[in-house]
Amino acid sequence: GVKRDLSGKHVLITAGPTVEPIDPVRYISNHSSGKTGYAIAKAAALRGAKVTLVSGPVSLPKPEGVDVVRVKTAVQMLEACEAAFETADISLFAAAVADMRPEHVADCKLKKGQADADLGTIKLVENPDILKTLASRKGPHQVVVGFAAETNDVIANAQKKLEKKKADVIVANRVGEGLAFGTDDNTVFFVDHEEVEELPTMSKSRLADVILDRALEYV
Ligand code: C5P
Repeated sequence: GVKRDLSGKHVLITAGPTVEPIDPVRYISNHSSGKTGYAIAKAAALRGAKVTLVSGPVSLPKPEGVDVVRVKTAVQMLEACEAAFETADISLFAAAVADMRPEHVADCKLKKGQADADLGTIKLVENPDILKTLASRKGPHQVVVGFAAETNDVIANAQKKLEKKKADVIVANRVGEGLAFGTDDNTVFFVDHEEVEELPTMSKSRLADVILDRALEYV
């Protein structure tokens, strides 16, 4: 049987990409299947948690027993998370949030090579950092888990994120050429203020439980 060690706990998870519109037909986004975040949501619900899953557009079914809030943009994702964060005991930020968004969303489809609406000169502005914004508001008993998908210097970059974003732990993995994106297995490191732990390669569903076990150590 499944241990119900998360009953009475509220778990917030972000998953999937955000999609930032340029005009009615175009957008900026990131690669993200949402599999990791959805696997965590499913595992947390099975372990008895009340689960809020704030999800960008993905093609995954709604996990049973999970409250899903569907969003498109990073700004919408932050708003949805702000509502849930205050009561969340454990928050896990697995979404691949677009760093930038177009400053203005064009009402009509932009045309190639047109001086006043040139596709080549879309002005971008920074999106809010959802993890950083919410971790800065965290109370003493709230746990915040960040993620880092890196092509190089995985550990060093994860350590920087841990400090900068004030997470309790970063789940870091290497990405690129067939690694991690959309796959069913993953190899990750837990990076916290004390240590770096390399985990064996495992399925994303097994990994979900291992990540939740780890998060519980910071409660
Ligand atoms: O800086 P980077 O995007 O690599 O950091 C990854 C971590 O920060 C992930 O946990 C991701 O969900 C979170 N993040 C966020 N909001 C952003 C950018 C990243 O919550 N705008």
